[in-house]
Amino acid sequence: MKALILHGGSGTRLRPLTYTGSKQLIKIAGKPISQYGIEDLRNNGITDIAIILGDNSPMDVINYYGNGSKFNVNITYIYQGEPKGLADAIYKAKDFIENDDFIVYLGDNIVLNGIEDMLNFNGYASILLARVDNPNRFGVALIDNNKIIKLIEKPKEFISDLALVGVYAFTPEIFNYIEKLRPSNRGELEITEALQNLIDDNKTVNFSIINDWWKDNGTPDDLLEANIKLLDKFTPEYNNINKCIHGRVNIPETSEIVNSQIYGPSHIGNNVTIKNSYIGPYTSIGDNCIIEDSEISNSIIFDNTMIRETKLIESIIGEDTKIKKTDNKPKNSKFVIGKGSIISLE
Ligand code: G1P
Repeated sequence: MKALILHGGSGTRLRPLTYTGSKQLIKIAGKPISQYGIEDLRNNGITDIAIILGDNSPMDVINYYGNGSKFNVNITYIYQGEPKGLADAIYKAKDFIENDDFIVYLGDNIVLNGIEDMLNFNGYASILLARVDNPNRFGVALIDNNKIIKLIEKPKEFISDLALVGVYAFTPEIFNYIEKLRPSNRGELEITEALQNLIDDNKTVNFSIINDWWKDNGTPDDLLEANIKLLDKFTPEYNNINKCIHGRVNIPETSEIVNSQIYGPSHIGNNVTIKNSYIGPYTSIGDNCIIEDSEISNSIIFDNTMIRETKLIESIIGEDTKIKKTDNKPKNSKFVIGKGSIISLE
């Protein structure tokens, strides 16, 4: 079995973070979102993977994953070119897939407990479903008598709260169905419609319903929620127990903690200096950051960021950002800040 990771999309709801990088490369608990998908595939024995690149920072994706050897997988890159929908992106991999069955993993989806349930399917395709509060944001499935009756992309009227999770298993038969698709109202070739056409032709589409947490990371709130769930589950690579570190905290030897208290679960990257500060639970700090005289909790701080005399909660701070001093009586600040910002609140 092979796999495709879809790495396209402009990530409009995550701006300004996605003006300067692809959303799938945003690091949570020390790893890009799409790496969780790649590791899930690898843990299920699938190592022949193609990444379908969109037009948002494709070179960053190639530089990060390389040929895949660092992640114990083989990675091939395929350019989607002009974005024309999920089904179009999948079709670009027809030659790579040849006659194999394959998984399609949307690179912005995190399935906390993995995709094992959907791997042994006996039909033409297999999908994962999960109950959601806002079904109009997803493709949804109507099930009757343990069979999928209907699949609708972003239904305006309620038909079901069972959303399609962004992981699918296909046989190569799907390519014949993608060839017959026409662009939808949103101008895209919809994979949901190709699946519906399989069902209409009495070609079985299997499904599993997951009750565990999953997320398609479209908004800053989604990222903060994913940060909590992933940190709750993670095992620190380096756990340097000492009296200023409480709970599960990843602290590599290259990072320095001076006169500070760090509460887990939290992830600190490489070459980070934390001085005279409090880092609260659920904080992911990237590589090469300097944090001084600050309090940060429930936040995601990207690489190369400097934060001084600031109190942050539920914030997402883009790369290469500098923030200093709120006021003499700092209150909690909540920010979503893009790459290269300089903020000085005095
Ligand atoms: C896509 C699919 C949708 C699915 C969702 C899961 O939506 O079209 O059916 O429920 O991924 O993440 P999009 O992210 O393109 O809005």
